Amino acid sequence: MSSLCHPDDGRVRLVMESALTARDRVGVQDFVLLENYNSEAAFIENLRRRFGEGLIYTYIGSVLVSVNPYKELEIYSKQQMERYRGVSFYEISPHIYALSDTAYRAMRTERKDQCIMISGESGAGKTEASKKILLYYAVTCPINAHMATLGDRLLQSNPVLEAFGNAKTFRNDNSSRFGKYMGVQFDFRGAPVGGHILNYLLEKSRVVHQNHGERNFHIFYQLLDGGDDNLLTTLALQRNPQNYSYLVKGNCPRLSSVSDKNNWKVVMKALSVIGFAEEEVQKLLSIIAGVLHLGNTQFGEGEEGETCITTETHATNVAKLLGVDVSALGEALTHKKLTAKGEEMITPLNFEQAMSARDALAKAVYGRTFTWLVEKINQSVALQEEIYHSGKGCSVIGLLDIYGFEVLQHNSFEQFCINYCNEKLQQLFIELTLRSEQEEYEAEGIAWETVQYFDNKIICDLIEEKHKGIISTLDEECLRPGETCDASFLEKLEDTLGGHPHFVTHKLANGKTRKAMGREEFRLLHYAGEVNYNVNGFLDKNNDLLNRNLKEVMCQSHNQIVSYCFRREEVMDQKRPEMAATQFKNNLMKLMEILGSKEPSYVRCLKPNDAKQPGRFDEVLIRHQVKYLGLMENLRVRRAGFAYRRRFEAFLQRYKPLCPETWPNWHGRLADGVSTLVNHLGYKAEEYKLGRSKIFIRFPKTLFTTEDALQAKKPEIGECKNGFPEWRCKGRLLVIILPFIKGFIYRHEDYCPENEYFLDHVRYSFLKNLRKNLPRSVLDKTWPTPPPSLVEASENLWRMHMRNMVVKYCKRVQPEWRKQMIQKVAASEIFKDQKDSYPQGVGRLFLDSRLEREQINLKVVQTLGSDKVQYGVPVVKYDRRGFKPRPRQLLLTNTFAVLVDKTKIKQRIDYAALRGISVSSLSDGMFVLHMPNEDNKQKGDVVLHCDHVIELVTKLAMMASKVNYVNINPGSITFAVARGKEGIIDFVRGSELKVAKGKRGHLLVIAPQINNI
Ligand SMILES: Nc1ncnc2c1ncn2[C@@H]1O[C@H](COP(=O)(O)OP(=O)(O)OP(=O)(O)O)[C@@H](O)[C@H]1O
Ligand SMILES: [Mg+2]
Repeated sequence: MSSLCHPDDGRVRLVMESALTARDRVGVQDFVLLENYNSEAAFIENLRRRFGEGLIYTYIGSVLVSVNPYKELEIYSKQQMERYRGVSFYEISPHIYALSDTAYRAMRTERKDQCIMISGESGAGKTEASKKILLYYAVTCPINAHMATLGDRLLQSNPVLEAFGNAKTFRNDNSSRFGKYMGVQFDFRGAPVGGHILNYLLEKSRVVHQNHGERNFHIFYQLLDGGDDNLLTTLALQRNPQNYSYLVKGNCPRLSSVSDKNNWKVVMKALSVIGFAEEEVQKLLSIIAGVLHLGNTQFGEGEEGETCITTETHATNVAKLLGVDVSALGEALTHKKLTAKGEEMITPLNFEQAMSARDALAKAVYGRTFTWLVEKINQSVALQEEIYHSGKGCSVIGLLDIYGFEVLQHNSFEQFCINYCNEKLQQLFIELTLRSEQEEYEAEGIAWETVQYFDNKIICDLIEEKHKGIISTLDEECLRPGETCDASFLEKLEDTLGGHPHFVTHKLANGKTRKAMGREEFRLLHYAGEVNYNVNGFLDKNNDLLNRNLKEVMCQSHNQIVSYCFRREEVMDQKRPEMAATQFKNNLMKLMEILGSKEPSYVRCLKPNDAKQPGRFDEVLIRHQVKYLGLMENLRVRRAGFAYRRRFEAFLQRYKPLCPETWPNWHGRLADGVSTLVNHLGYKAEEYKLGRSKIFIRFPKTLFTTEDALQAKKPEIGECKNGFPEWRCKGRLLVIILPFIKGFIYRHEDYCPENEYFLDHVRYSFLKNLRKNLPRSVLDKTWPTPPPSLVEASENLWRMHMRNMVVKYCKRVQPEWRKQMIQKVAASEIFKDQKDSYPQGVGRLFLDSRLEREQINLKVVQTLGSDKVQYGVPVVKYDRRGFKPRPRQLLLTNTFAVLVDKTKIKQRIDYAALRGISVSSLSDGMFVLHMPNEDNKQKGDVVLHCDHVIELVTKLAMMASKVNYVNINPGSITFAVARGKEGIIDFVRGSELKVAKGKRGHLLVIAPQINNI
């Protein structure tokens, strides 16, 4: 059976075959093509063969399996990055860059957030993989000056976090002792514009204790080895790590594989690139030194048998470096403050208690400083809102580098948390994989076949369920009054969980299992296998207690980092902080939410041997990991339906030489072409299915036979593909120009591999041009012409941009101006295009009043009393009979208007009673207020003239809520005279304004012509 290289759904590259050398084709490069996909032995054999050839990467569908080579391989150069850039997943040999690129392209083309989850046991290469992905983005993504800084900062966050969060362990010289999720934000051009890091469960216990052959966190040794003499003197440190009890527990001060001195330089440089001020670095190092001195602080017995500090110098150094009062610190390290029934009590600590208080302080200080460090880095790499307006338009690629399933000889609280985390990730994996498979089947119109898989919800529930789960039981036991201990916790578990199919203890087990378990252990049957957990230390680790008086001392620190880490509110707040396991559980829930909202990719890292040696493939060790990572289960889910699927065009492109009807070119529908081809090849109905755009092939064998046939056919068709001689298939022509030309030809088709490069380019150019030429005001109606594929997007963008400008404009508007605008809008509703004087009238400022305060008679004001005049204007009133003009003032209050003759109110017009307002369509200032006919008190309608008729009528109509009651009459206005009689005003255009008696007893108004009409 030949192994193969196959084109994927992406752009078909003519280079793809030549890119795969014979070496690349060792074994199968995708496990889904393993004939015997249920065989673990076949799986491992495939891994072994490839590993032997230095091929460390293999796929399970879109999952990348990576085996740590323990040697530098020549596959991570910039040229290699270029090779993988923009190329479909399966076109060339599997690589971490291919996975990175696929996630990146999916993010860009589908605008979907992505996450890459990297898992594997300690030393398997997770952190190295995550760094390679980050570097790939830093090198290949478009950038500008700001982004270059950002990229540097993101990259430089690694050495810093590694110095403070990594340590040499038995399994890995640079083991990450915390879980890390890093979200990188990309703008619409695909350039990185921000980042955010979340950290999980730092192994704080390492600060005070290390197993034999292990070390504390790197930073301690780096400081002692790399710090200059002056610095060490300032920190009162000696260069020899053996002098510090927190560094000698593992009896392993130096490492042959790591240069602490060099790394110190790297870390110091990284801190400055990230933007730490010198003073901050100084404070940070003071804390590191403070922890070392704290470790050397010893206790003894005082004259009266009390516990006291016997190493004054160290205690003084601790106090100085952590910025706290030495006597308060001494007191807090040897006493405990309790609050019982509202009263505070101080009790002395015995020797052991003082030692554990000291260690608890060291762990708390270090742990919180680490969190501060992460926050600080986050501030430095955060998306800059002022540059990118809003982060909402950004897409995210998240990288999760988190501890894999861990099974040690003795498993404790930490392994319990880690394995719980892996159960959750497995649950998410199954859910997301099945969901995406199902979605793809639906999209392609292929019936979904239910996949049988082990649902690990039962185990997740066992751990996390409220009130009943292990975490709840642990919390309860920590909080319960009375004597509690790890053993009582185990008993409680037995009471509540006894009989659960995934839980067993020594007491609950039967013969064989019982023999394999200690009395202090409980066993969980995880999805990946069984793990025994020793309950010793569970309560203490979950409590993670730090005496209150120690917190109080830390709160008052002069060292800003310490005082930031120990907030006053925490001491004031009597509520007990969440227990460690619950905190972890809550953080995990949030992480699951983050990951669940993204399209996942997976990197599963394997460690080939325990000796960290290149070229050694320990089958037993690998089998163990294959099992614990659930790789066979992964494969089963992937292979549940069809082993292989490709877009029609990619499939046809590759195999068309095998059928006379499709060679050299097929001119019909793609689906028909594929159908013709597979019929010719004799595919049986159960072997394949045609979806809407893809062919699904059920068994790898079918594909291998097809591939073999192609290989056999090659000499016959010559190495000439697609009508292009071989030499042309090389170099820049192929990489850049060809896709461009092809794209141009296919530019009117839907987005497809042939035109994606071209259309992306056109879109990008349009958007880039648009960015430079955005209209700067709402009145500017220019807008670049979009390409056909962006017409809708362009319209939406235009609308959004306009709305944005309007919102911005409105926000800037002062209240006074706002009032004007509201009135002008009302004026426009009433008069626009209907009255000749509107353009001039609306153009002027509407005043609050046309009468000075002193122009309104005092007596009138007094008569009006509490009804304040809101607006006043001089008007001319025309008698209904005889049309004698009389000067008046029209005053508007909130509920009525009055006509005033010098000192006397001549008429009151209630807004409620006002039937309407009439004006002419010309440029005159005449208006009529229509009064109710039946009202005896009213003597008919009121005929008035005002020089500010637009302003006045607008205000009056608004105050009286009569905007819809303004009539604009082109020729004449009829008004009511008392006792059912009517009068008429005729309007004509003339040279100047004139109001006079006209014919037939009408009033004639000559309105001046306005030029702009
Ligand atoms: N792709 C690789 N090429 C060369 N060496 C590698 C590669 N991946 C890992 N290594 C080697 O293996 C060591 C351990 O890898 P890494 O620190 O990434 O493991 P890890 O999975 O993150 O472990 P831990 O869970 O302990 O943090 C690295 O320091 C490096 O020496
Ligand atoms: Mg790591």
